[in-house]
Amino acid sequence: MTAPQAQALLEREERHYRERHPRSRAAFAEGEQHYLYGAPMHWMRRWAGGFPLCAARASAAHLWCVDGFEYVDFCLGDTGAMAGHAAPAVTAAVGRQLAQGATMMLPTEDARWVGAELVRRFGLPYWGFTTSASDANRAAIRIARLITGREVILVFNGCYHGSVEEAHVGLAAGRMVMRSGVHPNAVDHARVSRVVEFNDPAALEAALAPGDVALVLAEPCMTNYGLIEAEPGFLPRLRELTRRTGTLLLYDETHTWSAGPGGYTAREALDPDIFTIGKAIGGGIPVGLYGVSQGVAERLWEHAPRESVRPGVRQSSHLGFGGTLAGSAVQVAAVRAVLSEVLTGDSFAHMITLATDLARRCRTIVARCRLPWVIAQSGARVETLFAPCPPRDASQLARTRDGALESLLHLYMLNRGVLITPFHSMLLICPATTAADVERYVGVFQGLCEELSGSAAG
Ligand SMILES: Cc1ncc(COP(=O)(O)O)c(C=O)c1O
Repeated sequence: MTAPQAQALLEREERHYRERHPRSRAAFAEGEQHYLYGAPMHWMRRWAGGFPLCAARASAAHLWCVDGFEYVDFCLGDTGAMAGHAAPAVTAAVGRQLAQGATMMLPTEDARWVGAELVRRFGLPYWGFTTSASDANRAAIRIARLITGREVILVFNGCYHGSVEEAHVGLAAGRMVMRSGVHPNAVDHARVSRVVEFNDPAALEAALAPGDVALVLAEPCMTNYGLIEAEPGFLPRLRELTRRTGTLLLYDETHTWSAGPGGYTAREALDPDIFTIGKAIGGGIPVGLYGVSQGVAERLWEHAPRESVRPGVRQSSHLGFGGTLAGSAVQVAAVRAVLSEVLTGDSFAHMITLATDLARRCRTIVARCRLPWVIAQSGARVETLFAPCPPRDASQLARTRDGALESLLHLYMLNRGVLITPFHSMLLICPATTAADVERYVGVFQGLCEELSGSAAG
């Protein structure tokens, strides 16, 4: 395969896409008159092909566009729909709760079940709701600074934790820089952020040594730059170094929940001080959650006691985090439905079996076609990396990224009825994904690999 070959295939697929989707194209052109980036959210323009599909509807693991085509959806709203589209249990629970009052600034009976289940699943004893994973991370940062009295937040190069200012940094030639396209927004990143490569214990030790880091904000397996697994011993070392330096450790499991019913944390018996999650856990309703250890809770209560307000005391303290719709009855009902009926232990077993099968078969195709690619897998998540071996960190992965090849993979799939996440080449399996859906992906993937290598994979 040569770069001009891949470029020629991409141009063919772009023509094909434009010709087959006149209604989606027209919808985007109209959107450009009203929306800053042609669609309600700027991400939406990032799909390959020049304009996004206009979605008509989605159900289970399938989606239909306004031009009448059906797709197997492995993007699943970048995990927002990892419970499956329109999961009947969620639709019923949310519909019931909407009819009985969506938000009342009061807890409901569902909250009792949900609180106990969060502890059972993820292991942390105390929890709070927000309306997004970004907000959960921001609440956690605020708590960490409050109880440690420190300012610095340490993240790993290539991370994404939502619209969290402190995490909008990366490394270029070993120096901290703003992530491309992100304005510093008047935040003094040199003072409040620190960034090191994932899987680099020496750099981590040096960065924590001054004792001024409040929190390490991390995914236990990096998912947002491409899938990068922790090397053996790295996560234990991270835990040991954070403990030794009085730094809190937060695992953001918004994406890595796909590792299993209790996320990476339960699967690998990790012991974070704070845990955040969002997206999939709301089954489509905006939800974020943060859980804290007993130690963090006790330190927080020293600053913000948990006793009910006494008569005569003004109830003005908002702690600086929250959200009027956070913990609403409809959020809690959605989370109960997701945890009790949709993303159950049995569902995860099914999802991981399918993902394992998909990854194994794609590896065989890649090997037969002699393509220098890695098929990475973490639980119900699979990713094609255009790298000859599994990357250790984001800088290494960045050197192998190939925009044209990535766009080709996305469009080739889309033109043949398969959707993958637009930002990199991640596939997600949901409880409703079937073996036939996997078959469709593998068949199309094989076609692409054969075209690229100029051979029949056999
Ligand atoms: C690991 C991680 N944390 C947080 C977020 C932010 O989620 P939200 O956009 O729902 O706030 C994302 C979004 O992709 C994410 O991948």
